[in-house]
Amino acid sequence: MQKATARAHPNIAFIKYWGNRDDNLRLPSNPSLSMNLAGVYTQTTVEWTDDLTSDSLDINGEPAAEEARMRVSNHLDRVRSRLNMTTRARVQSENNFPMGAGIASSAAAFAALTVAAVAAADVQLSERELSTIARMGSGSASRSVPGGFVEWFAADTHEESYAQSFAAPDHWDLHDVIAVVSTEHKKTGSQAGHRTAFTSDLQPARVAGAQARFDVCRQALLDRDFSSLATVVEEDSNLMHAVMMTSRPPLFYWQPTSLEIMHLVPEWRREGLNVCYTLDAGPNVHCLCTADAAEEVRNRLQNLSEVGEVRMTSPGGAAEIIS
Ligand code: DP6
Repeated sequence: MQKATARAHPNIAFIKYWGNRDDNLRLPSNPSLSMNLAGVYTQTTVEWTDDLTSDSLDINGEPAAEEARMRVSNHLDRVRSRLNMTTRARVQSENNFPMGAGIASSAAAFAALTVAAVAAADVQLSERELSTIARMGSGSASRSVPGGFVEWFAADTHEESYAQSFAAPDHWDLHDVIAVVSTEHKKTGSQAGHRTAFTSDLQPARVAGAQARFDVCRQALLDRDFSSLATVVEEDSNLMHAVMMTSRPPLFYWQPTSLEIMHLVPEWRREGLNVCYTLDAGPNVHCLCTADAAEEVRNRLQNLSEVGEVRMTSPGGAAEIIS
């Protein structure tokens, strides 16, 4: 078989990855923890072929921009080097969610690409190794290889920095209700952002406390303890944004509506709704909540005039080979 198709879900980090100890290998400065998102996915077909002299990439049926093609081709170089091959690949990738839906696409994209590229070469690698390879394409992609609730280890070596599942999707039916505040493409992406993380005086303090927050968050998830989860998730998101805002140059991802929701969510929690917020490198607000609160949270978000679309997702599975 020289052709394979794989599907991977994006993920939302509860404990954030921000800054690398090694930018080339994408060895993160701190461990992170996430949940895969069901219902949304990237599906990628990789065909290794002697007909091509360079890798080709189509996204949603259209030839991709050169920058995206190069990032994919560089990633395929890593796969080729691991599998001792020189063949070029035809890559076709589709997202079933729109760009700007408040969902990071690089995690699902590089997880699906890695799994499809290896399967198309008819090679079987462990989930752990697939996760390390995906990590080099996009850090958060390491977390989209395993399923459900996932931890990604910060380590000094390529082999040790992988992600693994610590609870299956059905362990806890948490929902991620995403308030889309802006669909504008962000000016500074994660790749450039990670490089400036250590220009903030606050980054060493954030990193120093990350393992402790990770431990609290992991335990809260295992215990299904929403109150403890909410406190640590919001604190970790705020810490990452404090680093972003104090980097050189500073990165301000929040919009006024993001902040409005960050004020409202803890009030809703005091009223008895199990909901907390977290934001990635963008203005859209991910409202994590228990299943019983999800409809109410969705309605409240939808009633805010500045909020566009509201998307609802639940815990998703591992990256998988479709054909
Ligand atoms: C803010 O994995 O998108 O979403 O490795 O450069 O592709 P690259 O970065 P990426 O960074 C994700 C950052 C984040 C937090 C997180 O998902 O942990």
